Amino acid sequence: MDIALLSVSMNVYSTQRIANEAKNLGHHIECIDHTKCSIKIGGNKPQVLFKNDNILDAFDAIIPRIGTKVTHHGASVVKQFEMNKVFSTAHSANISKARNKAKTLQLLSNRGIPIPKTLFSIDPDDIDQQIDILGGAPLIIKIQEGTHGLGVILAETKKSAKSIIDTFYKMDTNILMQEFIKESNGEDIRAFVVGDKVVASMKRTSDNDEFRSNVHRGGSTSAVILTPKEKSIALNAAKHIGLGVAGVDLIRSKKGPLLIEVNASPGLQGIEAATGINIAKEIIHYVEQSCRKKRK
Ligand SMILES: Nc1ncnc2c1ncn2[C@@H]1O[C@H](COP(=O)(O)OP(=O)(O)O)[C@@H](O)[C@H]1O
Ligand SMILES: [Mg+2]
Repeated sequence: MDIALLSVSMNVYSTQRIANEAKNLGHHIECIDHTKCSIKIGGNKPQVLFKNDNILDAFDAIIPRIGTKVTHHGASVVKQFEMNKVFSTAHSANISKARNKAKTLQLLSNRGIPIPKTLFSIDPDDIDQQIDILGGAPLIIKIQEGTHGLGVILAETKKSAKSIIDTFYKMDTNILMQEFIKESNGEDIRAFVVGDKVVASMKRTSDNDEFRSNVHRGGSTSAVILTPKEKSIALNAAKHIGLGVAGVDLIRSKKGPLLIEVNASPGLQGIEAATGINIAKEIIHYVEQSCRKKRK
């Protein structure tokens, strides 16, 4: 098969791993930097231009690895391939959905997936009540499109929660508020979903004084076995957001597992190292199977 790996650089671990496994399985794979792609529409046939070539008809499948900073343009590139009937491991609209935590939680909660109590608003006249509805402080405040733990704040008192929320509202930054799940103890679970399987899972544990378990915030990783409930939440989350490849993040609470976010371009480095599982190969197998089904 001819596969395009939409990624900004071959120097990224995940990009390299996916490219190597595709080659090992006999495919032709090219790294296409979506930030260097232009979309031409109107007139004759649409084109996706990369280094002056129209690459719209050049591939059987695309694997989007769209970074958080360029989600919008990345999704537009994916959309153009999609409309050209090229298989993609992620639908453009679903990449955008997963990018926003409030949107993700709204959708998945409606599907019966347990999440921490969450509230979002833009009304600065009503902050007291908004905080009270969630049971007061301590309270988690998150930027809706944050990542790597940046933009996730633990407000220990109602007073600090109020000033933080007010600041974000006045800055027109979209946030959400969430009950603080203390018993998660600075740990979260990443379930890596490919197709209709959880292919690997790991636990991330935060550094000493930190409540955020992100590896970018100093968290450490180890393999973990998911409970059947956790597995089913992960599979349903990926299915309902509509992603063939997804990193589903959960925290363990007294009431059971709670979903906190879904990542449409989950990294491979931490989880392949922690579990010893060849996830890149699983992704290529999934692309092969999906393209075979599509041809039938
Ligand atoms: N409601 C919560 N209660 C306790 N800890 C949380 C809560 N939400 C997030 N965290 C911690 O903060 C980390 C970062 O939050 P997350 O929503 O995953 O944002 P990001 O996209 O920046 O990773 C999580 O991995 C988890 O360890
Ligand atoms: Mg996270």
